[in-house]
Amino acid sequence: MTDPVNRQILLVEKPSGKLGPEHFKLNTSTIPEPKHGEALLRVRYISLDAANRAWMHGATYRAAVEPNSVMAGGGIAEVVASKAPNLAPGDIVFGDTGWQEYAAVPAKLLTKMPRIEPMTHLLSVYGIAGLTAYFGLLEIGKPKAGETVVVSAAAGSVGSIVGQIAKIRDCHVVGIAGGKDKCHWLTSELGFDAAVDYKDGAVFKQLKAVAPKGIDVYFDNVGGDILEACLPQMNNYGRIACCGAISQYDGAPAAHGPRGVPGLIVVKRLIMQGFIVMDFMKQRDKALADLQGWVASGKLKVQEDVIDGLENTPAALIGLLAGENRGKRMIKV
Ligand SMILES: NC(=O)c1ccc[n+]([C@@H]2O[C@H](COP(=O)([O-])OP(=O)(O)OC[C@H]3O[C@@H](n4cnc5c(N)ncnc54)[C@H](OP(=O)(O)O)[C@@H]3O)[C@@H](O)[C@H]2O)c1
Repeated sequence: MTDPVNRQILLVEKPSGKLGPEHFKLNTSTIPEPKHGEALLRVRYISLDAANRAWMHGATYRAAVEPNSVMAGGGIAEVVASKAPNLAPGDIVFGDTGWQEYAAVPAKLLTKMPRIEPMTHLLSVYGIAGLTAYFGLLEIGKPKAGETVVVSAAAGSVGSIVGQIAKIRDCHVVGIAGGKDKCHWLTSELGFDAAVDYKDGAVFKQLKAVAPKGIDVYFDNVGGDILEACLPQMNNYGRIACCGAISQYDGAPAAHGPRGVPGLIVVKRLIMQGFIVMDFMKQRDKALADLQGWVASGKLKVQEDVIDGLENTPAALIGLLAGENRGKRMIKV
């Protein structure tokens, strides 16, 4: 009988330009022994996030991923052995497992999760994506009924939930996404009032047509030119929730930043605020209760994009950055 092994994906080199398969390597290692205070986890699903790419540069809210180490990433995992008092075999947890089949992780860095079906919802609507959408929109964007909410990367995991919550709050909702099919999906399936295809002509003009009263809340997932197109259309006292800057993650960022900063922010009395979802974890129970209620009542549709096999993780991230995904992309390990 062969010894069980731990298959892992290593980041072999930090990409200086666009991310490619050559930056990763499949490795096999022994299954780690948990130390005091740690749990040994069998990883079930790995979350694919635009932020995975940003972590390779460093200068984010976490340490940079170093070459020849296991690629960092969040995952849902089952405890198979534990040297921590609060975790037992069979428990389901969320944590930074990395891109691998097994991980020994300090229990204090893990969040115990309920056993729900489908388990994938723990990464999508009840995971970081759903909570980011919930807190970013409601705590930073603070939309009021009748206001216009615009969200970019609208067909992605965070954006698709932001738009639906804004509809639940009776707002006029516009999504910005790449391609006709995604835009059609936003309006026909998810109930957005309008969608703008940023790959089909000037975003500024298209937005003007579908948000004639101006923008009250812009939920910004992408930064760059799309932020620049939204800024002059913000209404006085509008709010911009800065969630991420996906247009800047993969390859060299555009030479110029969004023009109109700070001039338009001053004149229009805008609030532009960044946030990290972890800042709101004390309010997690209330958020989860709301999200569960909306899913149960059919007001919030959950779109998942599950790809099989650890070996496909690099291609799945490269594809996410290129806009292949609809909703929450993840790997079934
Ligand atoms: N602040 C926080 O706590 C927090 C937590 C989680 C995520 N985030 C941020 O939320 C955003 C969404 O991340 P995600 O992981 O959920 O990814 P995602 O939305 O599921 O997927 C990313 C989508 O972004 C779009 N995109 C890629 N390049 C783009 C570009 N240059 N311009 C416009 N759109 C582009 C693509 O769709 P198209 O086909 O439409 O181009 C792609 O499908 C990211 O900025 C991420 O960093 C922040």
